[in-house]
Formats: sequence, C-alpha cells, structure tokens
Amino acid sequence: MINLGILISGRGSNMESILKFLIQDEGSKVRPKVVISSKPEAEGLEKASKFGIPTSVISNKLKGWEFDKEIIGILQQYDVKPENGLVCLAGYMRILSSEFVRIYKLRIMNIHPSLLPSFPGLNSQKQALDHGVKITGCTVHFVDEGLDSGPIIAQKHVEVLETDTYDTLSDRILEQEHLLYPYCVKLFSEKRLLIQDRKVIVT
Ligand code: GAR
Repeated sequence: MINLGILISGRGSNMESILKFLIQDEGSKVRPKVVISSKPEAEGLEKASKFGIPTSVISNKLKGWEFDKEIIGILQQYDVKPENGLVCLAGYMRILSSEFVRIYKLRIMNIHPSLLPSFPGLNSQKQALDHGVKITGCTVHFVDEGLDSGPIIAQKHVEVLETDTYDTLSDRILEQEHLLYPYCVKLFSEKRLLIQDRKVIVT
C-alpha cells in the first residue's frame, strides 16, 4: 500500500479529483492520509475535510527548510514516509527545498498546466497564450531540485482556440488535469513507473 500526502495552496480541485478517484477505484493501493496547506485560507482544506481526510496548515512564519521540515514532520506523523509514501503537489505554490526533494526522492509528483518543458513557473496558461502556441496542455512529473524540471510521467494536450481567454483555456486544461493526475497516482501505486535517467517508462 502507498500512503498519500497531498500538498495544496488554494482551490484544491486536483486534490478533489484524486480523492474522488481513489474512493471509486476498487482495490486501490493508495490510502490518502493527510492534506497539508501552505495557506490557512485555502478552499481545498474544507473539501478535504468533507472526504474525512485530516488537514494541517503550515505557519507562514516559517521559511525555507524550516517550513519544509514542518511538512515532513506532519507527513511522518501520518505515516507518509519515503519508504511507503507518495506526496502529490496539487496547486502547491511554493518551491520545495532541495532537502525535502532529496529525502522523498522520486516520491513527489506535481501537476503543471502546460506541456513541459514549455512554460514552467507561474501563469503558464498566459505564457502559452502570449507565445501564440496552438497546442498546450498539462504535465504530471516527478519533482526534482529544479523548477518544473523533473522526469515527466504523463501529459495531455489541449488545443488553443483563437477565441480563448486565460479563463477558457485554463478551464479546458483543468479538465484534463483532473483525468491525468489520478491516472499517474494509480500507475505509481501499481509500481508501473520505471525511471531510467530522466525518462519515465510506463510498464
Ligand atoms: C492547477 O491548474 C495546477 O496545474 C496549477 O495550479 C492550479 C491549481 O488548481 N499548478 C501550478 O501552476 C504549479 N506550478 P487546484 O488548486 O484547483 O488543483
């Protein structure tokens, strides 16, 4: 079994899609254990409680490694450990310290609203519109020490329409995110992700 910790900062719709999927997935090998937010006002906290998942908020007085040490302490408390756990970043808007990444090596996933390596960082949908690309999408990847640069697990493409605004494009990407992230969590739990250098092979 895999014990899952989810890190959020806001709305938490990706978190919700994972939790919904896990409830419906008979024989799932994933146990959601805790949702941790970097912001006390995150809407996702209430959503997590409705699923009966314990939640926790990290004090924003802490910085850098101190902040992440607090998260790791909570993950350990809920038995989400490097040997049995998976940490999903779901709209988590902080960069993880390299210590955190090293401790949970290849056990932290992130979802990003572009086809990486294009448009990393913030406002990826706006970056895509401004650049004039015809196709964008979303990516689930393992987190490494760089910015949105870790090994790519899976991607879904979304066509950019001439009439698209930031909101319409973001909504269509989000629909795909909600399908992609639970699928990747399932692949991980079934040990179907083989990592060779920076390539992830789905077996
Ligand atoms: C999602 O679109 C996610 O891909 C993006 O934030 C949104 C969070 O929505 N994440 C990033 O941009 C990370 N760099 P949610 O809170 O409803 O899941």
